[in-house]
Amino acid sequence: MLCPMLSLGFLVLLPFTVAFNPIGGKGQTHVNIMERAVMMKITEVCREVAKAEGRDFNILGESLEELLQACLGRDKAGEVSAVAFKTALDQIYRQNGLVDSLFASSEAHHFHSEAFVEGRNLITVGVATVKANVQKENFQVAREALGRVSHTLQDFYSHSNWVELGHRTPYMNLLRPDYSIGPVAGEGEATCSNCEKEPCPNSILPTILQEKKLTSGYLSVTSSFKPAGKCSHGGPSDKTSNQRPRGGIHKDEPGLQSWELHTAAVDVAIAATLDLLEDIRAVAGDVDFLQLMGITRSSLLCFVIDTTGSMSDDIAEAKRVAISIIDSKKGTQDEPSAYILVPFNDPEFGPAIRTTDAEVIKTKISNLSATGGGDEPEMCFSGLKLALTTAPQSSSIFVFTDASAKDTHLEATVKALMQSTRSTVSFFITNPGLSWRRRRDTQRSTAFQLYQELAQASGGQAIKVSKEMLPQATDIIVDSTTSTLVVTLLQCVRSGGTTETFTFLADPSVRDMMIYITGNSFSFILQNPSGVSQSSQVPEGPLGTIQSVGNLYRVRMKHQAGLWKMEINSRQPYTLKVMGQSSTAFMYDFVEAFGGPHPGFVVIESRPQAEREAKLLVKVTGKQGPDFLNVTEVSLEEASGSGEVKGTVEDLGHGQYLVSVDRVPKGQMVLLLKGLDKNTSSLFQRQSSTQLTVSKLTIMAQANRTLEPGTPVSLPFTVTISGTGGTCTVRADDDRGFVQSFTDSLTLVNGSAQGSVELRPPANTPSGTDITLTITAESPDKSDSNYAVLRLSVVAKVTDLSPPACHIVSVRDNCSHNCSLSTWELSANITDGNGTGVRSVSSRPGDGVLNSTSSVGEGGVNVTQVLYRASCCSPNVEIIAVDGVGNVGTCFHSVSRLPTTAPLSGSPPLTASLSLGLYVLLLYFSQKAQ
Ligand SMILES: *[C@@H]1O[C@H](CO)[C@@H](O)[C@H](O)[C@H]1NC(C)=O
Ligand SMILES: *[C@@H]1O[C@H](CO)[C@@H](O)[C@H](O)[C@H]1NC(C)=O
Ligand SMILES: *[C@@H]1O[C@H](CO)[C@@H](O)[C@H](O)[C@H]1NC(C)=O
Ligand SMILES: *[C@@H]1O[C@H](CO)[C@@H](O)[C@H](O)[C@H]1NC(C)=O
Ligand SMILES: *[C@@H]1O[C@H](CO)[C@@H](O)[C@H](O)[C@H]1NC(C)=O
Ligand SMILES: *[C@@H]1O[C@H](CO)[C@@H](O)[C@H](O)[C@H]1NC(C)=O
Repeated sequence: MLCPMLSLGFLVLLPFTVAFNPIGGKGQTHVNIMERAVMMKITEVCREVAKAEGRDFNILGESLEELLQACLGRDKAGEVSAVAFKTALDQIYRQNGLVDSLFASSEAHHFHSEAFVEGRNLITVGVATVKANVQKENFQVAREALGRVSHTLQDFYSHSNWVELGHRTPYMNLLRPDYSIGPVAGEGEATCSNCEKEPCPNSILPTILQEKKLTSGYLSVTSSFKPAGKCSHGGPSDKTSNQRPRGGIHKDEPGLQSWELHTAAVDVAIAATLDLLEDIRAVAGDVDFLQLMGITRSSLLCFVIDTTGSMSDDIAEAKRVAISIIDSKKGTQDEPSAYILVPFNDPEFGPAIRTTDAEVIKTKISNLSATGGGDEPEMCFSGLKLALTTAPQSSSIFVFTDASAKDTHLEATVKALMQSTRSTVSFFITNPGLSWRRRRDTQRSTAFQLYQELAQASGGQAIKVSKEMLPQATDIIVDSTTSTLVVTLLQCVRSGGTTETFTFLADPSVRDMMIYITGNSFSFILQNPSGVSQSSQVPEGPLGTIQSVGNLYRVRMKHQAGLWKMEINSRQPYTLKVMGQSSTAFMYDFVEAFGGPHPGFVVIESRPQAEREAKLLVKVTGKQGPDFLNVTEVSLEEASGSGEVKGTVEDLGHGQYLVSVDRVPKGQMVLLLKGLDKNTSSLFQRQSSTQLTVSKLTIMAQANRTLEPGTPVSLPFTVTISGTGGTCTVRADDDRGFVQSFTDSLTLVNGSAQGSVELRPPANTPSGTDITLTITAESPDKSDSNYAVLRLSVVAKVTDLSPPACHIVSVRDNCSHNCSLSTWELSANITDGNGTGVRSVSSRPGDGVLNSTSSVGEGGVNVTQVLYRASCCSPNVEIIAVDGVGNVGTCFHSVSRLPTTAPLSGSPPLTASLSLGLYVLLLYFSQKAQ
């Protein structure tokens, strides 16, 4: 049962099962396999990075929060929130799980029906997609592609006879498209014997085993047909398994096969996933690899700036403000990890400029000038749309403009993107008197209201200010909203006319509390937990400082834990938002059960269905990990009223909760979560920042996520509506202009209809270009809409399949017993045959010195000559060469006098796994390989 895994150097014990089921299946899932591999690899890379930086690396606990702290450096990072980390990991895990629902009937995605060539092709394209997108820093697309491709890679070990053939290490050829997939059982060749009573661990025919041929199970949920003599996948939903030869060979969970084969399949799947991650790491480099895994301390800062002529008075101020924001964050713990600038004019907008260099973005902002466009409304929504598709999830976006938007047809698209990315958008509107009158909009009295609605829906603010007041306005909003620690305690929208009292709970973990109120004519009285009050007329009082600018009031509060009260009296509409900074935060998604051979839950990536029950998956994160937090109540609250629906909370363990709600209220809602911090024995409350809505419409779009340059694709989608039929209006938008046409009107028959979007990426589109495609559909009576947001990528067909070859030319080794006195040296020639050429060469570990020079050798072949020099105390080296499309070639050398323990290629020994008891169902021990 304990299988020594040579290439990995660790041993796995599985007291409970880890199986190949999707999210929420029978306890253990594909996601656990992915999670195991991802955690080990992150730990390993973080440890090496820390060593290279001369830092200590110690993980004190078992949580992701601990791992993040240790990776970022405990002293350097200060308090960090694990939300971005967990969100990134979810992007990987979710797509991994989704393969079972989106591609349930695709043989290739699961290596069913001996589809080995097709399955391996999917892996080749998937890996190329990950690599191309990592190189362009399109991390979200890369994560999603990684999740998907890993599923197929992992399924190979459960669904094929690889472990029955006696293998206990990964099949390297799956990740080497230049190698043949090997002998596969022929068409018509019998592969299985009949199984009278399960388990039947020896179903594979001896001839297949002797000839070392690959085979896999056939599966159908609708028909019992399978080719004569072939193995079935097996299990209750597989109709072919009742057909002779009866039984099944899948090792998805123990039961059908022996426990040994099941655990062997799990172990090899984890090892194979580690090899894949190592391959991607070699291409990405350690910094980008960790960013791909979501290890980041800070968020990103994004500006969308109007550059039309009418802004000429304001743009200097907007520029000054933007630059001062950047300067004020520099060197602080909130220093953004990257910056995005999107200028917009009329009719042009963009391009989106993304950089990690503060000086570059400052220069770009300085170079903006206001021209053209006149006083006409401009392309504000196009600019905002581009910002939303360029920025990662949960970014803060600041829009500076002085006029109404011309491109309001994009309103639904922008709203969809805001909800789907959960980014917060704040508008600074200077000169608000101008051009509002031009808009003829029956639903809103002013165009400002449109900006206000959008800001509210995203959890941001819409602020009307004069040019003179702009710096003040931005100061008071930006200083508190760009940290990753920002949490919302309370937010609501009211129409005014009465006096209303709001209460909110401040727990001891919250720092820097702020109240934001936008409105025109109101007064308030704030009361702290000890009963001390301060009114809106007192700018500097016992409870804090009140500042106002334009229509925005901010109270910076002196912290006191406990229940606060806010009584607001207003004749006009207003918004209220209470925020603070804390590492206690939560994430949420609506989920839906699905059936099929591998049932589970999928995340609903659009608005959930109206007028019916709903389920939410809620995850909490805190400084010491989720095990110190207990969620006691989750409810959906109307944003603009007092209506609320409480959910039933089921604890799934490790900070995950399944929340069931009988009926989701209509209109804008926020999610309210209450819980207990067991460490401080104090109650806490949090709200979602983004407002949620439900819809009677659903849009389903299934897509191959990878497109080829110059090749048109037709992407089908289905719109469904509950209730009456009629004609829906559809829009499809992307951020690259690749959409050629789409079905813009759909007549629903029996509540549903199909349409399609035609996309054509130009032939010269660089590999690794990502596309965000947004499809929105509006109900026949225009009262309701929903969306689908798809992230696709363009990847050129990979023709260079071979990695660079590394040839060790000479080694000079004078190492003596006292290693610190001597050095050793290695020289190697690296070539890439007829391929795309050697793009980079690096060495690992990083404590030697590597020099490389390129020259043209014999026969006009390009040669990269490498010289590596290191202390004899560092006796091992792995030279890593990457070619133009990300094929990775390595060579290993050791001058160690001891028997070598390191593998020749692939993963170095994983001692990293020791301290990670993370996924508590799994116990494992670290052991040196022999
Ligand atoms: C969590 O809260 C629930 C409801 O208050 C309570 O029944 C349960 O015992 C708590 N669990 C822990 C581990 O504190
Ligand atoms: C998706 O990819 C498969 C195989 O690569 C192809 O057969 C199919 O037509 C593609 N579908 C779409 C909608 O492009
Ligand atoms: C390069 O391509 C030529 C022609 O296709 C082939 O004959 C040759 O063997 C290739 N060389 C290598 C090193 O792959
Ligand atoms: C390696 O490169 C560094 C800087 O590029 C140079 O100073 C050094 O002399 C080189 N060493 C060798 C052995 O070529
Ligand atoms: C290594 O490359 C250099 C430069 O092309 C060449 O002169 C030398 O012969 C090569 N050595 C070997 C062993 O291939
Ligand atoms: C060698 O490298 C040069 C410059 O990088 C490139 O232009 C040329 O095509 C390469 N030659 C071969 C045979 O790969």
